[in-house]
Amino acid sequence: MIPADSKVLLLTGSAGRDERVYPDADSFDIRRTFRLHVAFGYGVHFCLGAALARMEGKIALEETLKRYKSWVVDNEHAVLLHTSTVRGYQQLPIHV
Ligand code: HEM
Repeated sequence: MIPADSKVLLLTGSAGRDERVYPDADSFDIRRTFRLHVAFGYGVHFCLGAALARMEGKIALEETLKRYKSWVVDNEHAVLLHTSTVRGYQQLPIHV
């Protein structure tokens, strides 16, 4: 029995590491195929800005790769961002 005053914390990021769905769930696989992912939510509250965000991301990556043909990530100075919803970097320096 779950107590009535229990709180639920939704960790969207953990859905992408669901070992019941993905064979090697904890590994980053850029070629992984998705039947469904929840990066933009799901159902009636699906992100209203998803199309804009995808377009902006595509343009940013295309323009960056066009301008800088080769670059190296400075892993030593990378700083992870710790929030309950975002799994990413607060700082990710690169050398061009
Ligand atoms: C990479 C960028 C983005 C990500 C990962 C993202 C992710 C999400 C997620 C997961 C939700 C669902 C939250 C929930 O179920 O409670 C959401 C909702 C929402 N997003 Fe985004 N979002 C992004 C960009 C944007 C942009 C650019 C806009 C607007 C220009 C936007 C507007 C909204 C709005 C208005 C909702 C609420 C929809 C509702 O509750 O019906 N988002 N977003």
